Amino acid sequence: MANVIRQSFSVPFAFDVIFTRGVFEASNDALFKALEPRTPGDSARAMFVVDSGVAACHPEMIEQIESYCIGRDIESAGEPLIVPGGERCKNETQWLDVVVREIDQRGVCRHSYVVAVGGGAVLDMAGYAAAIAHRGVRHMRIPTTTLAQGDSAVGVKNGVNAFGKKNFVGAFVPPSAVIMDAEFLMTLHDRDWRSGISEAIKVALLKDAEYFAWLERSMDRLNARDLDAMEKLIRRSAELHLNHIATSGDPFELGSSRPLDFGHWSAHRLESMSNHELRHGEAVAIGLALDLTYSKLVGMLEGADWRRAVNALSAAGFELFSPLLIDEGGNVSPELMRGLDEFREHLGGELTIMLLESIGSGVEAHEMDFELVNKAVAMLRERALAEEMS
Ligand SMILES: NC(=O)c1ccc[n+]([C@@H]2O[C@H](COP(=O)([O-])OP(=O)(O)OC[C@H]3O[C@@H](n4cnc5c(N)ncnc54)[C@H](O)[C@@H]3O)[C@@H](O)[C@H]2O)c1
Ligand SMILES: [Zn+2]
Repeated sequence: MANVIRQSFSVPFAFDVIFTRGVFEASNDALFKALEPRTPGDSARAMFVVDSGVAACHPEMIEQIESYCIGRDIESAGEPLIVPGGERCKNETQWLDVVVREIDQRGVCRHSYVVAVGGGAVLDMAGYAAAIAHRGVRHMRIPTTTLAQGDSAVGVKNGVNAFGKKNFVGAFVPPSAVIMDAEFLMTLHDRDWRSGISEAIKVALLKDAEYFAWLERSMDRLNARDLDAMEKLIRRSAELHLNHIATSGDPFELGSSRPLDFGHWSAHRLESMSNHELRHGEAVAIGLALDLTYSKLVGMLEGADWRRAVNALSAAGFELFSPLLIDEGGNVSPELMRGLDEFREHLGGELTIMLLESIGSGVEAHEMDFELVNKAVAMLRERALAEEMS
């Protein structure tokens, strides 16, 4: 007989998601209020990690951060550290090392903050650096892309890529706070403006038919870069993601189910196969189209709902077919199919794939039929060819 001491405890997590504009303007106290001092009565201490793409488009920002800290009595741990924006900072591990080393050299303690300002890639990398330095420094996220604001920044995942696999190394750690400032979005490249829309369509398809209908109606405004419409999209997407994480019963994904990863088994693969030429949001649009078409072929999703979902992705301006989906013979690429194995390994346990049964309602499946995936890819190819001809 074994002699066992049973250990059990739980740790509550809570963080605010704050919507504001002009986050670094002297009169805006959102950031100041979100930073807790190291000890009561003391000033808060922060090291800023800034996406190079954001810094280039907002040349005044670095100085603004510095004057904000002086004006609000925030002790800044050195100058803001600029790191390359985009997937490069997750692919080249030296950037993770740089942030960890700076946390050490600048004396950033566990009661100080790493404040990451940037797209999803920089937030993932800086959040992971904060998670491992001192076994966990507080981290705050100021997302600057549509995708990061509506999706990645409100989640609990941080990480970098390794061995050609997306997010292979990482940690589940919720941020201390998230501050959304829609003004950043005005300088996004069209591709990055669009990227957040595929994740919004994803979460709407899974959870909220009314929101999906709003997205359909608002697509012209979104395509015309209407900031108010985008702010609404971000708010609802963020709410749905937050609500899922809080109520799913599995915030740290200990089970095999990963509902929000609808369309992602192939999307992650496509990102790697394209050497990250495809943005995450663009790859997700293709991945969604593939799994939507598969859902239809398997007899789960009605033709009318399939059409609405796929048309919404096209209306947002996404390409729904990539030559990477097929091999030279025109069949589904074996390299793409490896995505299913990687997904299975990553989840552990049984393969669980999210499919759609109707707009607003996802269903889990535990296998994918190769022939039907092949057929789904062929349908997307035909659809793309027909669009090209018209
Ligand atoms: N942690 C999660 O739960 C989660 C969820 C979804 C996606 N992600 C990750 O997020 C990443 C994609 O993030 P993304 O779509 O934000 O793109 P990104 O971080 O790759 O940024 C795209 C480009 O936009 C630039 N940029 C960022 N903000 C800008 C601004 N305001 N103005 C001008 N340029 C700006 C960046 O420098 C970069 O060149 C992927 O690595 C993906 O895996 C993580
Ligand atoms: Zn995603």
